[in-house]
Amino acid sequence: MTDDTQAIDLDKAGKTAEQVFGYLGGALVSAMIYLGDRMGLYLAMSGAGPITSEELARKTGLHERWIREWLYQQSSARLIDYKGESRFELSPETAMVLANENSPLYLAGGFCAIPQQMALLNRLPESFKSGLGLSYDQFGPEVNRGVERLLAPWFRTQLVPTALPKLDGVVAKLQAGAKVADVGCGAGVAIIEMAKAFPRSQFHGYDIAKIPLGQAADNARRAELTNVKLLDASVDPLPADASYDLITTFDCLHDMTRPDLVMLAIRKAIKPDGTWLIADIHGMPTFEDNLRENPLAPLMYGFSVLCCMSSALSEPDGLGLGTLGFSEPVARKMTAEVGFTRFTTKDFENPINAYYEVRP
Ligand SMILES: C[S@@+](CC[C@H](N)C(=O)[O-])C[C@H]1O[C@@H](n2cnc3c(N)ncnc32)[C@H](O)[C@@H]1O
Repeated sequence: MTDDTQAIDLDKAGKTAEQVFGYLGGALVSAMIYLGDRMGLYLAMSGAGPITSEELARKTGLHERWIREWLYQQSSARLIDYKGESRFELSPETAMVLANENSPLYLAGGFCAIPQQMALLNRLPESFKSGLGLSYDQFGPEVNRGVERLLAPWFRTQLVPTALPKLDGVVAKLQAGAKVADVGCGAGVAIIEMAKAFPRSQFHGYDIAKIPLGQAADNARRAELTNVKLLDASVDPLPADASYDLITTFDCLHDMTRPDLVMLAIRKAIKPDGTWLIADIHGMPTFEDNLRENPLAPLMYGFSVLCCMSSALSEPDGLGLGTLGFSEPVARKMTAEVGFTRFTTKDFENPINAYYEVRP
């Protein structure tokens, strides 16, 4: 044995192996959550009480042996409760997270992105070499659908009743009839929720990716709204006419190649007494802070490489902020640089996001 090998702390190595195996376990639990959502298993179990694999198989029209193994996996992962005598239950609390799309805690929808998101791993080695990432259109439809389903519960349950009333004077303007832009609107869930609640106002959703704009068009059509217009910002940019009463950007500035230019366009598009509501990931100012204090840092930096930073580097001049790159000090500095003078933080009780009310 050399001195080098003697210096290795085998206890630490063993713990690291355990930790890494745990991460593999997490990936596989995620894969099983994907199947539970895709095959309608959580929905079938929701409210059904303790159920056997045979009963669940009959209810879903699926093969009992596959259902049983999935139930064993989900019970071992402590998501489904094993009640004894071959009965399994999805508790009402877990149903809020895995079955009920209208619950503020619903998370299972985001898992529909996993196969396509993981397939992007085949393209990322090239990005590591070239420096160039992929756009939201290059991510593909499942990833965009995953973003929609992951972020939609907050829009459906909190945006109109909780968040908008906490912005200075905004609800009164929306009730009377205001002009609103949602920049980086994605699948349009936010503007659709606002458009339903405030029929006298006009809502414009801007995005540069065709896939989410298509999802937004479908969603708006289904909601039968006449006060929603969707625009491709790459051909139809925000007008520089100081006409918008409210502009919103939800979880998208850190994804943009040039958020600085979009922010400048927002400054020119907003009325002198208008309001800009920013939602972005609740990150710490520095990597060291995130390492020390942010338990979600591994998840967020992972999202960044797979999605947000990739998008933010999808053009050669991309700033590449990434998932945790738009922290409060960055938001304060960048909004001030384009001429906003008022900046207030808002707490809308979302552990993932920070919210800022920004005004000229
Ligand atoms: C994480 S998604 C958020 C979508 C939506 N705001 C939501 O919360 O569901 C980020 C979106 O920003 C869009 N985006 C990226 N760069 C943009 C730009 N320069 N202008 C407008 N949208 C942009 C992407 O196409 C994508 O739809």
